[in-house]
Amino acid sequence: MLVCGGSVSEFNSKRRVYSIPGSILSGRLFKDWISQEPIRGDTSNHTSDEWNDVKKAVEQALPFYESISEVISFGLAGPLRRRAIRRLETQRNDWVLDSGTGPGVSSRILLDDGFEKVIGLDPSLILLRSSKTRLRDGFYPVRGVAENLPFRNGSMAGAITCFSLRDVRDREASVAEFARVVRETGRLEIVDVGKPDSPFFQRLISLYVVLVMPIVAKFFIGGRARGNPFRLIIPTFHQLSTNHNLTVLAEREFGSSRLHEFLLGGLVIVEARQTNFSRS
Ligand SMILES: C[S@@+](CC[C@H](N)C(=O)[O-])C[C@H]1O[C@@H](n2cnc3c(N)ncnc32)[C@H](O)[C@@H]1O
Repeated sequence: MLVCGGSVSEFNSKRRVYSIPGSILSGRLFKDWISQEPIRGDTSNHTSDEWNDVKKAVEQALPFYESISEVISFGLAGPLRRRAIRRLETQRNDWVLDSGTGPGVSSRILLDDGFEKVIGLDPSLILLRSSKTRLRDGFYPVRGVAENLPFRNGSMAGAITCFSLRDVRDREASVAEFARVVRETGRLEIVDVGKPDSPFFQRLISLYVVLVMPIVAKFFIGGRARGNPFRLIIPTFHQLSTNHNLTVLAEREFGSSRLHEFLLGGLVIVEARQTNFSRS
C-alpha cells in the first residue's frame, strides 16, 4: 500500500506482499513533496464531519455497494462507468488514475478491459485494503485525496472519477489537481450524479434523491445493515453545482470539456481533454 504523505513502502499483510514497480520507486510517478497546507479552501463543499460520515457510509455499504448502486441508478451506474472507460482506451499500458476508487468497481472494470497500471486513490484504508485483496495485479492502491494528489505533473495518461467528485471537500481544487497530473491530450472522465440546469428537472431529480431513492435502497439492503448508508447521497446532492457549472470548471482547468446527460440530467459524464498542459 502506498500511503500519501508517508514513506513509499511495501504493504506487508499476513496474506501477501505487494510489489511496487520500479517506475514508482524511481520517483517518476510520485512528487517528492506533499503540501502540508490545509486543503479546505474557499471553495470547500462539506464540513469535516459531513465528509467523514460520507466516507464511513461507503465503508459500511461495502458488501452491497455495487448491487444497490445499480438499482438506484436504474441500471445505469455500470454502463456509464464502462462508457467513460472506453474513452480512455488509448492509454491501456500507461498509468491511469481512478480517484475515489472506494470499493474498486471502476478499477476492476479498467483491469478487465486490459488496463495494465491502475492507481486506485482513496482516503479510506478499509476500502483500499478490501479492493487490493479482490483485484488482480495491475491495481496499485494509494491513500490520499484528490485535492492534493501525490503525483508529479503529467505523470498520468488519463484519469477517471466515478461517483466520487461530489464527495470531495473541494471540487475546484480536485479538478485543478487532475489537470496538473494528466498529461497533454490525456482525458479526465467524471461520472456522477448530476444536478440539471433546468429548475423543473432539478426539482424532479431532487424529489427522487431525497424521497424515493432512500426507500428503494433500504428495501434492497433488507436486513444486511442497520441504517441506510445511501442516505448520505442526499447532502452531497444538495452541495452539487449544476451540470453546466461542472462542465465549465472542467473546461477552465483542462482546456476542453463535454457534458453528456442521462436520466433527465440526474446522471452525467463530463469528459475533459487536456489542452492546457504545462510542465512547470
Ligand atoms: C461513492 S464512492 C465511489 C466509489 C467508486 N469510484 C465507484 O465507481 O462506485 C466515493 C469514494 O470517494 C472517496 N472520497 C471521498 N473524499 C475523497 C477525496 N477528497 N479524494 C478522493 N476520494 C475521496 C470515498 O472514500 C469513497 O470511497
